[in-house]
Parts: sequence; structure tokens; C-alpha cells
Amino acid sequence: MSQNDQEGKAPVRGLQDVVAGETRVSYVDGVNGMLIYNGYDVRELAEHTTFDEVVYLSWYGQLPTRSELASFRARLVSEMRLPSQVISMIRLAPAGAHPMDVLRTAVSALSMFDPESGDMSPAANERKLVRLLAQVMTIIADMHRVRSNESVVSPDPGLDIGDNFLYMFRGRQPDEEEKKAFDQLLLLHLDHGFNASTFAARVTASTLADMHAALATAIGTLKGSLHGGANERVMEMLDEIDHVDMVDSYIQGMLDNGKRIMGFGHRVYRVEDPRARVLRHWSERLCHRAAMADLYAISHRIEQVVLAQKGIYPNVDFYSATVQHALGIPRQYFTTLFAASRTAGWLAHVMEQYADNRLIRPTSKYIGGWNRKVVPIAERG
Ligand code: SDX
Repeated sequence: MSQNDQEGKAPVRGLQDVVAGETRVSYVDGVNGMLIYNGYDVRELAEHTTFDEVVYLSWYGQLPTRSELASFRARLVSEMRLPSQVISMIRLAPAGAHPMDVLRTAVSALSMFDPESGDMSPAANERKLVRLLAQVMTIIADMHRVRSNESVVSPDPGLDIGDNFLYMFRGRQPDEEEKKAFDQLLLLHLDHGFNASTFAARVTASTLADMHAALATAIGTLKGSLHGGANERVMEMLDEIDHVDMVDSYIQGMLDNGKRIMGFGHRVYRVEDPRARVLRHWSERLCHRAAMADLYAISHRIEQVVLAQKGIYPNVDFYSATVQHALGIPRQYFTTLFAASRTAGWLAHVMEQYADNRLIRPTSKYIGGWNRKVVPIAERG
């Protein structure tokens, strides 16, 4: 009779604080409330660089020179196009299908029409890095246009990939303040250590499955309300609070019923999420200029009440909701925008896993029965 080889060992629920691998892509300092992208503080990057510069840093290990950025920018924008069959698939998706489901399905469809999807050579994988980030953004923009019965918008070679994403999604050019806000929104969502969707992508890559497969895994994982799906639920919560004077009783009611306040708390941060600090600034500015000042006032009051009642802070999803809402992004797309940015981080981790791989396969503590005797179906009544 075999015995449980894990006898006496207790599983670590949620793998909390378990070091599951090494990475250069980012470091989350939960004690000091800092996020580092390959050596750079994200707040400094948000202030002095653009999303595509940090994509370059995540993939190639250093910030680009001006000429490197110019050619990288042009490569990304030139890949913002989809096989016609994938656009047809997007058109065929049921109107009620969630954008994250359409995105996940479209990425899987891309693998069938990408002649290099099965080519795992370093050169092919590098080309797929650029192509997949550009195509994910294009899928989301085209999906919204098609579902709004609007014509799809081709990218403007004069804009970078972030500005093009907003232009192709909304059908109108962003102004300078919108460009800055949206670029920082993308930059802040790019990577975040071994979060659930990134770890899922690395598990898929560790089997030597291709990049499209790892990306589909990550998108499916991000959708959950405990992860990237929280931003959409933050907006639903804000919709239920008509006035700032209602906040205290609403939050107290949620907490009294043991409900989680979406957009708050974090597995790693024990202090304020540095991304929330930057997004709070943009939420206030964009809500005021969009005549939605009450939305920001309600959000800020929620933050004060939750901190006072539960001692927990807003995470990246809380103010991301009002920033996206004020930019005219419908809430059902909030998580797809998170996915668009995090595609850069996911693919950086996939490449890192390929470069120094060992199949990720943990063990488990067996708690089932032992030595049960089979009774043939004829005798089982
Ligand atoms: C993201 O991992 C990442 O890095 C993720 C992410 C990234 O960039 O990839 O940062 C993005 O996913 C942000 C998180 C988005 N999710 C939400 O906003 C959903 C609401 N938050 C949670 O459910 C929760 O905070 C988690 C899931 C984010 C973290 O949960 P943990 O680490 O498992 O903590 P826990 O559930 O054990 O909670 C610890 C205590 C509990 O109190 P007790 O029951 O022990 O008394 O804190 C309380 C919880 O009740 N708590 C909350 C709460 N979050 C934690 N109470 C009310 N509302 C909340 N949101």
C-alpha cells in the first residue's frame, strides 16, 4: 500500500509568499509600496518614458535609444492589422459575448492564421512578440468598432501604439492630456511579478507550448473578478452609489455582509499600490474635465471609508475604472485594456521561461481514500 509521500506537509494556500521562480521583468515591493520594472521605479518611468519604451525595456532589457525607439514604434504600428478571417470571427461573435471571451477566442484564432505560430525559433518568437502585442490591441479596437456598427479604423503611422489604440477604439484622435493619461494607464498595467495570469502564462510556456497558447491562457486567467475582472465591477459598484453621502452606509452594508469591495486589497501590497496613486491623479483630472466630478468624489470617499474600516488600500483596478470611464471606454472593455497592456509583460515572462526552462509541475497532498475495493457495476445495485 503506497503512502502519501507528502505526509505531514501542509499545502500553502494560494501559494502565498512561495517563491516560484526568478524574473528580471518586475519586482513588487509590498512593504514599501514600490513597483520596479527591470531596475526602474515605475513612478519614474511613468513620468519620463512612454508605454512603448517600457515594452522595449521589458523585452530587450534596456530602454531604447531614440533611433531604436523610432524603428520599434514603427514596427509595432505596422503590425496593427488582423487576418480577415479573424475579423470575420469577431463579427460572428454573439453580441452578448463578453469582450474578454472574444479576445481570448480571437487570440486562439490568430494562431491558426499565423504561419509562425508553431515556430519556436528565437527569431520567430521575437517577431511574434511585436505582432501579438499589436494584434491584441487591434482585436480590442476592432471589436468595439464592429459591435458599435462603426467602420474599423486603420492605425495612423504618426501615432505610437498606445495613442493608436485609443484612436482606433474611439474613432477620434486623443488630445495631449488624454494621450498622457492613457499612456500611463498602459504603462502601469504592463507587468506585476508572478500574478495569477502571468504565472499561468509561464506554466503554459514551461511545457514548450507556443506563445499564442500562453497568451490565451493568460487572458482566460485575467478575467476573474479577484484579478483583472475587478475594474469592471468597480464601475458597477460606483453605479449603485448615487451620491457621496451614500458611500458610508453602502460600504458598511457590503462589509457587514462579508462582501469584498472590488478594487481594494492585494496579495502583496501591505501599503498603497503605487499604481493607484498615479491613477488617482488621472481619475481626478479626467473626471473633472468630463463633468463627472461626483464620480471622483464618490471614489475618493470609498477609499477613505474602506481604509478606515478595513485598513486596506485601493489596488490598480480601483481608479483604473474611472480613468477608463472618463476616457469614454465602456466598462465591459476595462479588463481587455488591462490585457492589452499586460500582453507585453506576459510575453516578456514567456520569453524568460523559454530561455531558462524547467517544466513547472508542483506536487500535491493527496487527501483521497486508500485501498478501496472495486465492486463491478452488475453488483452495485
Ligand atoms: C489585480 O497579484 C497581482 O499582482 C494582481 C494585480 C496585477 O497587477 O496583476 O495587482 C492586479 O488583480 C489586483 C486585485 C484586483 N482584485 C480585486 O480588487 C478584488 C477584491 N480584492 C480581493 O478579493 C483581495 O484583496 C485579493 C484577491 C486581491 C487578495 O486577496 P488575498 O491576498 O487572498 O487576501 P484575503 O482574501 O486572504 O484577505 C485578507 C483579509 C481578509 O480579512 P479576514 O476575512 O481574514 O478578516 O483582508 C480582507 C479579507 O476579508 N479583504 C477584503 C478585501 N480584500 C481583502 N475585505 C473587503 N474587501 C476586499 N477587497
